[in-house]
Amino acid sequence: MPTRVAIAGATGYAGGELARLVLRHPEARLVAAVARSHQGEPLRAAQPHLHTAPDSLVVSREVGDAEVVFTALPAGEAAKQAGVWLGEGRTVIDIGSDFRLRDPALYERWYGYAHPAPELLKEAVYGLTELTRDRVRRARLIANPGCYPTAALLALAPALKARLVTEDLIVDAKSGVSGAGHTVDEAFLYGSIDESVRPYGVPKHRHTPEIAQEAALLLGAQPRLTFTPHLVPMTRGLIATCYAPLRSGKTAKDVAETYAREYSEEPFVRVVGTYPATKATLGSNWCLVHAIVDESTSRLVVFAVLDNLVKGAAGSALQNFNARFGYPETMGLEALPLWP
Ligand SMILES: NC(=O)c1ccc[n+]([C@@H]2O[C@H](COP(=O)([O-])OP(=O)(O)OC[C@H]3O[C@@H](n4cnc5c(N)ncnc54)[C@H](OP(=O)(O)O)[C@@H]3O)[C@@H](O)[C@H]2O)c1
Repeated sequence: MPTRVAIAGATGYAGGELARLVLRHPEARLVAAVARSHQGEPLRAAQPHLHTAPDSLVVSREVGDAEVVFTALPAGEAAKQAGVWLGEGRTVIDIGSDFRLRDPALYERWYGYAHPAPELLKEAVYGLTELTRDRVRRARLIANPGCYPTAALLALAPALKARLVTEDLIVDAKSGVSGAGHTVDEAFLYGSIDESVRPYGVPKHRHTPEIAQEAALLLGAQPRLTFTPHLVPMTRGLIATCYAPLRSGKTAKDVAETYAREYSEEPFVRVVGTYPATKATLGSNWCLVHAIVDESTSRLVVFAVLDNLVKGAAGSALQNFNARFGYPETMGLEALPLWP
């Protein structure tokens, strides 16, 4: 029997992308599409790309008999309801940020609100599958990583784990506009973003403490992190260019061997031999990584590209679902990227 799945936030970008993937997953059945708007309408009325979804899949406020609830809601909303769903014996996979940070005080500092369910933070498992799949397999509550942290951590993890670099980390990243969701905001109008690139959220972007938290676990020390995101005029796609000083005695050969070894068995992370392009990941769950050493500055420079809506959100949530329920991690995620 397929596993019954609900998506809360099914009318949004991440929820719509997840519905696209779940509808063709052989072992998952989408039984509920939850949102506030579009009540009683078929999901495809809110998500035109899901025009093959059955008429019976209507938007409602209930998760029905779902065994798993994926939440793709604005910050703070999943935490208001997750406790109830967990109490009913369901597994919760949150694509939002509500369970990513260990320390509840960080929500006050970085998100500006008191966490609605701080007691759940202790049991939530940070679900960057490549790094935490053993814990994901046993989790009731999975915190899917943010899109920028996914790229930054996959770029830096091999170097941090092998202690090839010091704790001075710079993450310079760029994302397409779908990263901001479908909320209407003047800053995201076509006329505002087309033919323009701009930074934002420096030095207070909400993904900063998340990258720092997970980098600290990998490095065994608190990093000094500068994170600068930019908005670029494309719909999907994200690149993180990461810089870190090499520790003395570490070489380009160490870097090449470490990265090749770390990701040799990973189904969705590939170390490539050239500068990766976001476009080479679109619509897919792939993250492409390229690491080089700048000998003149003794600095590691690593690029990671991914599709923010797939490996940065819905795809990694489904990868976690697969790991959690014992399905092959690639199930339902086999699609190759679109090009051009
Ligand atoms: N976009 C990305 O690339 C990306 C990547 C990784 C993680 N995420 C995270 O995923 C979550 C969703 O992002 P998104 O980009 O998909 O946003 P979005 O397009 O704005 O979608 C938000 C969804 O939540 C529903 N919703 C909004 N307010 C709600 C409320 N108070 N109670 C219940 N439902 C509510 C919306 O539907 P109604 O308005 O109809 O209720 C919609 O279905 C966010 O936490 C975001 O940080 C997004």
